[in-house]
Amino acid sequence: MATPQPAIFNEMGRNQWYVHLSRVEGADLGKIKGVLRDAVNAASGHDINLCVLFGPTLLADLGGPVVDDFQPYQTFVSADGSGREAKGTQEELLLWWNGTEKDMIWELQFNVRTALEGHMRVARETPTFVWRDSWDFTGFVDGTGNPEAHRQPEVALIPDGKPGAGGSFAIAQRWIHDLTAFNALPVDQQEAVFGRKKAPATEKTATIPGTSHLAHVELREDGNNGYEGSAKRDEIARRSTPYAFHDGSVGLYFMAFCNRQAPLRERMNAMYNTDGKGVRDQLTDFSNPASGSFYFAPSMQDLNSMLR
Ligand code: HEM
Repeated sequence: MATPQPAIFNEMGRNQWYVHLSRVEGADLGKIKGVLRDAVNAASGHDINLCVLFGPTLLADLGGPVVDDFQPYQTFVSADGSGREAKGTQEELLLWWNGTEKDMIWELQFNVRTALEGHMRVARETPTFVWRDSWDFTGFVDGTGNPEAHRQPEVALIPDGKPGAGGSFAIAQRWIHDLTAFNALPVDQQEAVFGRKKAPATEKTATIPGTSHLAHVELREDGNNGYEGSAKRDEIARRSTPYAFHDGSVGLYFMAFCNRQAPLRERMNAMYNTDGKGVRDQLTDFSNPASGSFYFAPSMQDLNSMLR
């Protein structure tokens, strides 16, 4: 049976660091493999979770599994003329560290990016943290609708017998919140944006407005998205955390895993109403991503053979 990268399901520490990289001209694959092997060992030696995720090009060039329907991230543009979009910034490699000790996480990522110099360039990075009891900066708890822990492997991992078994498709985006605008809304209107109560966070609003976040992302078999009537379909496992930059920008670093990429794309297309047949998620009036990429986190067996 294929073993997933443990960082996908381990208890997430309160500190995270996301580093996206792509190859530069003259990059030596042998060197990159060696650095990544060392990175995996160093993280486990310090009790820090490290997830190694590949974009389509590097996955192929390192002889990774040929998984179904692995597409690079394309900008999702709203068809309603609002100009709202979720910008595509696909890179080749994402390294995601998380754990308790921020100083050690910094050290590990610094050593890796330094060792990769001349072979891979850091395109962007985001240190993030758990705020209070997993709150988003909007004051809403993020993650309550996640599948229960025992169901997450089924939701997030390619099943045994298929190419890439034990691996997982991921989306990583840095959303920038307009908290001034959001906080100016009365609480009942804030709740309508999500379709979820601020407190208690486990409760939904009495009706789920068609513009609400849940109506776009809580996919149901009967198409009545956001409502309890039928079973959920195509679930995903979310691991998002907030970030705050020194320039004042704040928001959510959205990270989610799925056993296929299509459910991630479906939700993005719905949120942005890219085909013009629905309505845009009202959340995108208050937050939009500055970056977005799709990755694949191979199983431990595939990762080890890719890095040999
Ligand atoms: C600014 C960005 C976002 C914020 C602040 C946000 C916030 C939230 C909140 C507060 C909830 C309700 C509580 C919960 O279940 O966690 C929720 C649910 C959810 N969100 Fe988001 N979200 C964001 C982006 C996204 C994106 C980009 C996706 C998918 C591509 C997504 C997928 C989901 C799913 C699947 C649920 C759970 C639905 C269910 O109960 O089945 N979210 N989100």
